[in-house]
Formats: sequence, structure tokens, C-alpha cells
Amino acid sequence: MGGQGPIEDLEVLARWLGFAWTAENSRQAAAIIARYPQGRQHSAVLPLLDLAQRQVGAETKTQGWLPIPVMEFVAREIDMPYIRLLEVATFYTMFNLVPVGCFHVQVCGTTPCMLKGSDAVLDACYQRGLKKGHTTTDGLFTLSEVECLGACANAPMVQINDDNFEDLTADSMGAILDALAGGQMPKAGPQVDRQTSAPEGGPTSLRKMAERNYDYRSQWGAAPAGEGQA
Ligand code: FES
Repeated sequence: MGGQGPIEDLEVLARWLGFAWTAENSRQAAAIIARYPQGRQHSAVLPLLDLAQRQVGAETKTQGWLPIPVMEFVAREIDMPYIRLLEVATFYTMFNLVPVGCFHVQVCGTTPCMLKGSDAVLDACYQRGLKKGHTTTDGLFTLSEVECLGACANAPMVQINDDNFEDLTADSMGAILDALAGGQMPKAGPQVDRQTSAPEGGPTSLRKMAERNYDYRSQWGAAPAGEGQA
């Protein structure tokens, strides 16, 4: 069940067999299912698995995971064969099939992040005792390597719980982990001077438009090539 042995599996079974939504999550689950037409409630499988994982997380003070009895509960909620739900849960890395720690550090190792230094990011994790596929003994960090998380323009990046941390170096990654271990919440997003995925240091073209609705049209055709772009 947890994949660790029969005793652990029985403990997991005993702990989660009676899983049911909290009152608030019961309302949320009903609202999620109601988004879909009658007879199409299977479409709610992803948000319901996410909701269940978050509830397990809240109950265990971790990022949550999906014990088999919890997945069976979700399958019953939407009248879906358990094996079909399991196919979904095992396809997406966002669903944890074993327990994770308070901070789930997911390092992107796909090509753009790899070329921009994801190995250095991983090294910063290793130096602090994190190991791929494992949770630290204090239960604080779980380290995973994942495929592209869709923030390639700001590579290399990691996702920690619900936040992305981008434009990382070994130093900035180390500082983020140290801050989390020290009970602080580091600033999410780019770790260099840029807004989202805009150029570092501010706009590099159409700069007058960055502050006001500047009308460039009078310069088009009259100014030498390139001058109207300042
Ligand atoms: S390759 Fe890392 S976010 Fe896309």
C-alpha cells in the first residue's frame, strides 16, 4: 500500500480506511462534480484527487499523498472503477503515491532547465541532505526530479509545494532551502531582477510604453530604422 512492507501497509489501511471529506471539502467536492453534465462525473477525477491529497496533507501536516483507501473513496464518489482512477493517479507526477514531507521540492530536469544549470540546483539540494525520491529524516523535505513544469523561459526552476522558484543558481537554491528550514517563506517567482518572464532589468524594447500609453505612430516611417523602438 505504501510499498514498504505488510506491517506498514496494514497501518496505512487502518489509518485511512475511514477517510471521508471534511465538511468544507464535502461542499467543494459537490461543487466540483456539479461543474460537469449529468453522467459525466468522471471528469471530476483530477480536481477530486487533488482535493483528497490536500486533505491528507492537512491531516498529516505534509504536502499530502494518496493512500489506496483514499483513492478508493474518490472512485466511489464519482462511481468510477478504481483501476481507471489509479491509471490517472499514476500518470500525473502531481499526485504522490507515497508520503512526502512538509516541502515537496520538485526540480525540473528537462532540457532547457538542464542546459541552464539544473545539475547545480540538484547539487544544492544534495548538499543539504536531500536525496531524490526520499524524504529527509526530519520530515521536512522530499526531493523529486520532474519533467518540464512550463516555466522554461525562467530556467532553471523548481516547484516547491504550490510555488515556483525560477532563475536559480546553486546559491539561490541553497538560500531558499535554508530559509524554509529556518521557518521563513522565501519570495517565490524569479530570483533575479525581472517581472515574471520579462527581460532582466526591465523592458528592452518599446520602453516608453512601459510607463504610459506612448503613441509611437508619429515616428513610424519618419525615424531611421530602429529609433522608434526606444
Ligand atoms: S524545461 Fe524546466 S520548466 Fe520547462
